[in-house]
Amino acid sequence: MGRDTRSGGIFSPTRCCEVKYAGRMSHLRSSSIRQMLKMASERDLISFAGGLPDASLFPTETLAELSQKIIRDYGRTALQYAPTEGLPALREKVAFWLRGKGLEIQEDQVLITQGSQQGIDLLSKLFLESGVGLLAENPSYLGALQCFRFFEARLYAAALDEEGMTLEALNRAVKRKPRLAYLMPNFQNPTSVYYSLARRKAVTDILAHRGIFMVEDDPYGELIYEGSCLPPLWQFYEGVDKVYLGTFSKTIVPGLRIAYLVGNEGLVRQLALIKQATDLHTNNLGQWIVNSFLEEGLLPAHIELIRDRYRRKRDIMAQSMARHFPSWIRYRIPQGGMFFWVKAPSMLDPMELLQACLKRGVSFVLGSDFYLESPSDSSYLRLNFTSVEEDRIETGISVIGEEMRNLTQGEIRRGQ
Ligand SMILES: Cc1ncc(COP(=O)(O)O)c(C=O)c1O
Repeated sequence: MGRDTRSGGIFSPTRCCEVKYAGRMSHLRSSSIRQMLKMASERDLISFAGGLPDASLFPTETLAELSQKIIRDYGRTALQYAPTEGLPALREKVAFWLRGKGLEIQEDQVLITQGSQQGIDLLSKLFLESGVGLLAENPSYLGALQCFRFFEARLYAAALDEEGMTLEALNRAVKRKPRLAYLMPNFQNPTSVYYSLARRKAVTDILAHRGIFMVEDDPYGELIYEGSCLPPLWQFYEGVDKVYLGTFSKTIVPGLRIAYLVGNEGLVRQLALIKQATDLHTNNLGQWIVNSFLEEGLLPAHIELIRDRYRRKRDIMAQSMARHFPSWIRYRIPQGGMFFWVKAPSMLDPMELLQACLKRGVSFVLGSDFYLESPSDSSYLRLNFTSVEEDRIETGISVIGEEMRNLTQGEIRRGQ
């Protein structure tokens, strides 16, 4: 490595500066598939790939009015530094909202975070170090896995069925004595699995009995399209070794980065210390805006609007899949959340399918990215249905269906 006189600066194909990075950097990998999608996204793609909310539902007019009023009338406070734990009025409202879901908590148990991704990061900083075990659903949310790997946790995978984490897998994994368990009971990312009531009770019983700290991540619980959501795991876990993570990213907007973590007071104090060392506090203006949105009582109606739109998109997607996918493709219609989790048979290589679809302007992500252990299961695709425009869903799905048939024609003929 050295100076590259052609460009006039320090240049290395493998390092971008002369000083060695921390060893943990080797655990952060950028997935090649994501890079491929990023390049492709520069075209006008029909993208089932991301996990983005529908931006046409963002309450932009309301947020503009609220922001203007806040800056004009309260700017000297709302634009000042703020307490690390979060805006007191917002903590209070979050506690009130969660009490409505059966979490018997007080405002000093709430820590306002910069997205729930920050909650995951703070918990990792508090609990994880090289070799510490963490139990998670397999597959699981990629952003959390990246964070856990960065802090050098040992990941113990527990498989899912249609009711949640299987008790067989859980019992096997807890024998390895993990310190933490990371769970998404509502419309899990990427599978959209929704834990049954019985499974909620059984899983939390085992975790509490073994003294395993439970991290419940619930960004999708409000996005339920039939019925009302089952009680959070928090309610069934007996003891204080638990946190609940929630976010306004899917119910208001992700760009403000306002989310919350709930735990016992002592834990929240520890996490606040770490947060102080990380970013001092969450974006204050964003907290004021979300607080006003809640104060005006706008959230319930907005959630209803989102549910209606997403339910319709999910139904269009399901009808399109039934019409265009070969009958040997397996999937379940999700009751909530943002994704279809689609299983391809062994004769179809999802990577080849993705390449063929990208050439025709359609993208999705490969399920293999979300697995904890290698070799991962590479027979799944994750299709997001919330961000594609309604009138482009069927076109995109028909392209995927056609390419599924094109790529398997030879195999099917051979099998006949
Ligand atoms: C399961 C899960 N947890 C956390 C997050 C991060 O959400 P936030 O925008 O609140 O950081 C996501 C984002 O998609 C997610 O799917």
